[in-house]
Order: sequence, then structure tokens, then C-alpha cells
Amino acid sequence: MTDLVHLTPFQDTTEHRTVWQLLGTEAELSPYNWFGPQPDRTFKLGDNDLFVVVSDGPDAGTLVGSVSWHTERYGPNVESSCWNFGINLLTEYRGRGYGCVAQRLLADHLFATTDVNRVEASTDVANVAEQRSLEKAGFVREGVLRGAQYRHDQHHDMVVYSRLRAG
Ligand SMILES: CC(C)(COP(=O)(O)OP(=O)(O)OC[C@H]1O[C@@H](n2cnc3c(N)ncnc32)[C@H](O)[C@@H]1OP(=O)(O)O)[C@@H](O)C(=O)NCCC(=O)NCCS
Repeated sequence: MTDLVHLTPFQDTTEHRTVWQLLGTEAELSPYNWFGPQPDRTFKLGDNDLFVVVSDGPDAGTLVGSVSWHTERYGPNVESSCWNFGINLLTEYRGRGYGCVAQRLLADHLFATTDVNRVEASTDVANVAEQRSLEKAGFVREGVLRGAQYRHDQHHDMVVYSRLRAG
């Protein structure tokens, strides 16, 4: 069965640059990932970003969001590093199950293409949609990182979720 969405690398095209620009605007971010204008944000054709693309139906081929990831380290050796990722969908495409599938596919992709034992994501304790989406994607809730993220002039508690290679 085809997944609702698939993930595709950034390409240097007008469409990709336009959607990427849009995804960085306050209107297309949520209160949970808007940190104010980011003048240093640059379009990168690297290994740590993928677009989320609708696979089927009338919206097939539409870029509906993006995922990105970075290394998190829990010790000085390479075996103690893992991936921490973020996701943002365009507002009109939220709540259709795309985020859940995208996050499941991203973890599958990172386990398949790298040696990490752990893929994690954290989100504001108030971001119920992301927590539910991560749980549907097979992530396990681990706990609360108190006062971890600074946004809108105050620190916020974050819930951390993970998937391990062994399941
Ligand atoms: C968070 C996000 C990735 C989720 O993806 P999505 O495609 O919109 O969500 P999904 O359809 O996969 O799942 C959302 C689930 O949360 C539920 N949900 C949504 N809002 C909710 C709310 N306020 N309270 C309770 N449940 C809620 C939905 O009903 C759905 O669960 P269900 O399938 O059991 O009905 C997407 O909405 C998004 O990009 N939001 C803005 C950016 C963001 O918050 N990124 C996350 C980290 S900062």
C-alpha cells in the first residue's frame, strides 16, 4: 500500500525555494516553532532536510511541509549520538495524517541510512497534535524537559519522544 506521503530531497528549483520560504514565515509556523524572524535561515541542499510530498489523490506531488534533523550527543563517543528532528507542515495540510506518516518515514530512513540507535523529537507540552502524531508514528513518550526552550519571552517545558533501532 502506498503511504499518504513520501519524503524527497531539496532541489534547487523555484518551487522548492518558494515552499521553503513559505515554511519559514510566521503564518505557516505554529506558536510552538516560531522563534521570530531568522535572518540567517538559508536554503541548503544538504543531507539534513527533506520535503514532505503528497503521494496520491488530487494533491499528489504537492509539497506540504518539511522535516529536518541534527545530531544530539549523550556522550563523547560516536555511539552516544542520535538524531533529533523537527517538522513543519503548511497550515492547510495539517490534521490529515501527513505528519504522522512523515515522522514514521523519517525515523525509518534515518535507521536505514545511518548507524544511530535512537531518533528523538521534542515538542512543547501544550502541543497536543504533535504528541499524538508522534505516538501514532510509533514514538514513545519519555518525559518532560523542564524550561528547556525559550520562545515568546519565556522558557517552556518540552516533552521528549523517541524511537530506538530495536523498537
Ligand atoms: C504537529 C504536526 C507535525 C502534526 O501533523 P498532522 O499531519 O497535522 O497531524 P496528524 O494528522 O498526523 O495527527 C494529529 C493528531 O492529533 C490530534 N489533534 C490535533 N489537534 C489536537 C488537539 N488540540 N488536541 C488533541 N488532539 C489533537 C488529531 O486528532 C490527530 O489524532 P487522530 O488521528 O487520533 O485523530 C503538524 O500539525 C504541524 O506541522 N504543526 C505545526 C508545527 C509543529 O507543531 N511542529 C511540531 C514540533 S514543534
